[in-house]
Amino acid sequence: MAKATIAAKPRVIAIAKQRDLACKTLLQQARAIVDAEGSDEAALQKLKTLLIALAGQGPTLFPTADFPMPDAQGRNHVLAVEDGDGMGLYLTIALPGKEAAPHDHGIWCVNAAISGKELHKFFRRTDDASRPGRAMVEEIGQSLVAPGLGMVMTDHAIHDTVVIGDEPAIGLALYGYALVRFPSVVWFHPAFSSTRASPSRRPAEVAV
Ligand SMILES: [Fe+2]
Repeated sequence: MAKATIAAKPRVIAIAKQRDLACKTLLQQARAIVDAEGSDEAALQKLKTLLIALAGQGPTLFPTADFPMPDAQGRNHVLAVEDGDGMGLYLTIALPGKEAAPHDHGIWCVNAAISGKELHKFFRRTDDASRPGRAMVEEIGQSLVAPGLGMVMTDHAIHDTVVIGDEPAIGLALYGYALVRFPSVVWFHPAFSSTRASPSRRPAEVAV
């Protein structure tokens, strides 16, 4: 038993190094695209292609043993974060049944699935935002994020999510800002035509 543990260690370290390199390479490629083209839908689709390819190496680069499951709902594991006020790449886990109400991250994001299925519905705001705390949204489309698939959201796009089936949804998420420096997230409650915002984590000197 002890022998097996000792023998396994170099392999675990090798996978972690390989993963680290692959994630940093993805961030460099993403940075080159965003710097050249910005973060509109077309540019984000290019990032999605990269992210789907990385997620496709799931069993090799992202073994479940390296990423503990959440006790409930979901959790994120940091894979790579750019220096300064840059992008963040995460491995995300959402347990079966986990759902999130419509929300606007305030910054673009790209997802790609490693395993499991998550349904994303997209919304647009239909009011003029003139009444604080009030908002109306309507669904404009949906996208299933499953192995080989992903989705993109431009700045201020609105989505809701639900994990489909009895398997956790495990995937990669690339955000325009690291989660520790995330803007305010605006949550919508269509049944009540109301909205609320979580506090921004943006440092005062770069607040957007
Ligand atoms: Fe979200």
